[in-house]
Amino acid sequence: MNGFNFEIVPTKDGSNTLRHPVFTALYHSSWGAMQESRHIYIREGIDYYYQHFFDRKNQIRVFELGFGTGLNALLTLDWSLQHTVQVLYATIERYPLPLSTLPSLNYPMQIESNHPSLSSMMTSMHEALHQQQFKHLTPNFTFEPRIGDFLEMELPPDIDVFYYDAFAPESQPAMWTKPILQKVYDSLANGGILVTFCAKGVFKRTLREIGFQVTSPPGPVGKREITRALKG
Ligand SMILES: C[S@@+](CC[C@H](N)C(=O)[O-])C[C@H]1O[C@@H](n2cnc3c(N)ncnc32)[C@H](O)[C@@H]1O
Repeated sequence: MNGFNFEIVPTKDGSNTLRHPVFTALYHSSWGAMQESRHIYIREGIDYYYQHFFDRKNQIRVFELGFGTGLNALLTLDWSLQHTVQVLYATIERYPLPLSTLPSLNYPMQIESNHPSLSSMMTSMHEALHQQQFKHLTPNFTFEPRIGDFLEMELPPDIDVFYYDAFAPESQPAMWTKPILQKVYDSLANGGILVTFCAKGVFKRTLREIGFQVTSPPGPVGKREITRALKG
């Protein structure tokens, strides 16, 4: 977003994160951006879904609230390179980063697969967001970004895995209200899951009231639990 200063902040696993200029919150845990994203959204998110619910229709629809640095998207693309499944990745971001921030986000070099194209694909994702352009980034990964306010958007139907990566309720209470979470429930396919870092009791109670089956897998380093919710 032009005119805003996105401060680069190192985290304990050697990966960098940002501080948001409006919310003043960090985009990731200070214990490690890379380990947090990998644990919550890859291991407990898409990979869990793939192991337990994937019905062999050969495609997984992911929706991410808050594209941010693109780390979740990049790790998901890397995951898709190691699986023979089509990933249809859609995301929304209200505050796209200036492209000049990207060189300070040291993610591609920290991903073990070390795929030679990760760096250029990360840039392509951010460019696609700025242009709100659909991109086929690899034969099995499509990327559909949009700029806008999640609270006002109409969600696509039949989402399999929802990465709920807003800022925490203390910073962004509007993201964690029942009507908004109901909208998420309605957008999920049967057997779809929501996964998030937030493990607050009131949040989990709201999810149960809506009809989700809620579990609390162990969290990444620095966090006891996270939340995964199934539309059963
Ligand atoms: C916790 S960070 C997400 C980090 C991101 N998933 C990543 O991998 O870097 C929250 C993100 O939500 C975005 N955001 C905040 N309010 C929003 C809104 N109303 N609509 C869409 N995005 C929003 C922020 O700009 C930020 O990028």
